[in-house]
Amino acid sequence: MTTPDRPPLPGPRPAAADGKVDLTLRVNEVTHRVHVRPDHTLLEVLRGPLGLTGPREGCGVGMCGACTVLVDGRPVSACLLLAPLAEGVEILTVEGLEGTDGSLHAIQQAYVDHTAFQCSYCTPGFILATKALLAEHPDPTREEAAAYLAGNLCRCGSYVKILDAVMDSAARLRLDCGTPARTGGEGHDLL
Ligand code: FES
Ligand code: FES
Repeated sequence: MTTPDRPPLPGPRPAAADGKVDLTLRVNEVTHRVHVRPDHTLLEVLRGPLGLTGPREGCGVGMCGACTVLVDGRPVSACLLLAPLAEGVEILTVEGLEGTDGSLHAIQQAYVDHTAFQCSYCTPGFILATKALLAEHPDPTREEAAAYLAGNLCRCGSYVKILDAVMDSAARLRLDCGTPARTGGEGHDLL
């Protein structure tokens, strides 16, 4: 049985003599053909054959959010998703946020302006989770933002600055869209 908004899972496929399979992945609006082991995760394929090192490996078991990518707009831990199951969806990594002229996305710029990182190991995951949050909730409260980002951990403890950047990102994106903020939607010091 399949859910309405997900393509059916691919069935078993024959492996080549080397035990690997051919996959077609859509990443950052580019189609890639890769030849990989069927037990490789999406994270391994992104960082290996595709050379996209924005998604980071932290825990490797879905607990830290360092490997967060967007799959059809939703945050997913790439360390938990087998690469063969990532066919037929649109994958976005932090590299895909940059403009064609090299300009930073408004969310990236807000993180820079608020120095919302120290070592930055967690930052790509936080930025993509922020993008998903603001697509769902363009005008979140600070508490709502903190709750949405609870699956992303920062070992440097930059949470206050990260939430500052998230709230500023929301304001910048609303400004771009001409959408007013809700009354009293900011000003909560949760962290
Ligand atoms: S590395 Fe994927 S959640 Fe931690
Ligand atoms: S800035 Fe170092 S882990 Fe978040």
